[in-house]
Amino acid sequence: MKEELKNLVEMATEEAKSIKTENDYLNIKSKYLGKKSKLSEYMSSLKDMTVEDKKKYGPLFNKIKNDLEALFTNYYENAINGEEKITFDPTIPADEKNGSLHPVTIVAKEITDILKNIGFMVLEGPEMESDYYNFVALNVPKNHPARDMQDTYWLDNGALLRTHTSPVQARAMEKYGAPIKMCVPGRVFRNEDLDASHENTFFQLEGMVIDKNISISNVIYVMKGMLREVFKQDVEVRLRPGFFPFVEPGFELDCSCTICNGKGCPTCKNSGWIELCPCGMVHPEVLKMSGVDPEEYTGFAFGLGLTRMAMMKYKISDIRGFNSGDLRFLDQFNVR
Ligand code: PHE
Repeated sequence: MKEELKNLVEMATEEAKSIKTENDYLNIKSKYLGKKSKLSEYMSSLKDMTVEDKKKYGPLFNKIKNDLEALFTNYYENAINGEEKITFDPTIPADEKNGSLHPVTIVAKEITDILKNIGFMVLEGPEMESDYYNFVALNVPKNHPARDMQDTYWLDNGALLRTHTSPVQARAMEKYGAPIKMCVPGRVFRNEDLDASHENTFFQLEGMVIDKNISISNVIYVMKGMLREVFKQDVEVRLRPGFFPFVEPGFELDCSCTICNGKGCPTCKNSGWIELCPCGMVHPEVLKMSGVDPEEYTGFAFGLGLTRMAMMKYKISDIRGFNSGDLRFLDQFNVR
């Protein structure tokens, strides 16, 4: 019986491939599933079987019936759809709704274009990163307390989802050496609880310049120039001390509030300043580990929050809209 059933299914499967029309479909259905079909014969023989056989064959017959039915319908539908494609009328006007760029993409392009104009390369790095590039090469050895600053998603294979775009600092120095001017827009991941201003997946833009005689005044100059272009107005910047193991000295860079021009408003919490990005002089150890001689070269780096920039530029108050895929949110940025 098992053998017979197997043959039956094989034959039906083979024959199903030749379904082209509705007639083929109805014929094959009646042949294999109709009242006079072999399968029906088997099914009616159920009543004469022992209880044990009934339990064994009842469900099996049903399954074969359902499977074949689905198979025939599937072939039939494919045949019809294929036919539809052939009769497709290319003169019918297309749906005119255009897609749009994501707000972070717009801001990333704007900023990388500005930096490209002053000689920066635009680079990429992997989102699945090694412990070495995400931490060790950035002067954060194993068991260093600074690792707690970044809530890391570790992967089963020992790698991690990069917590910042800074690993590309090391990758770029290894690959291109010094002098170098580069920027890296990219997605980063942190194990954070979500709320209106926290996401576990967001975007940064890393910038780094290594050359002879680079000092912190170069950071100020580049950032001021860049922000002037982005916000289409002059902005002031100021530095406050900040700690990151891969820069020395390290700073938090603030810019004058573009909403109230420094007079004080709810956005800048009446301080007139907005915290924009951490930055600093690349730590000599970091240069050394990536093969750049700290006696000869110095450099600065900054890590701009791209998602934050997009929020400022488009006055978006809830960060969760960015990754929601909600078209009502995304359609507002209909720039192509
Ligand atoms: N990578 C740091 C962060 O994401 C930011 C940073 C970049 C700080 C470059 C200094 C220099 O927290």
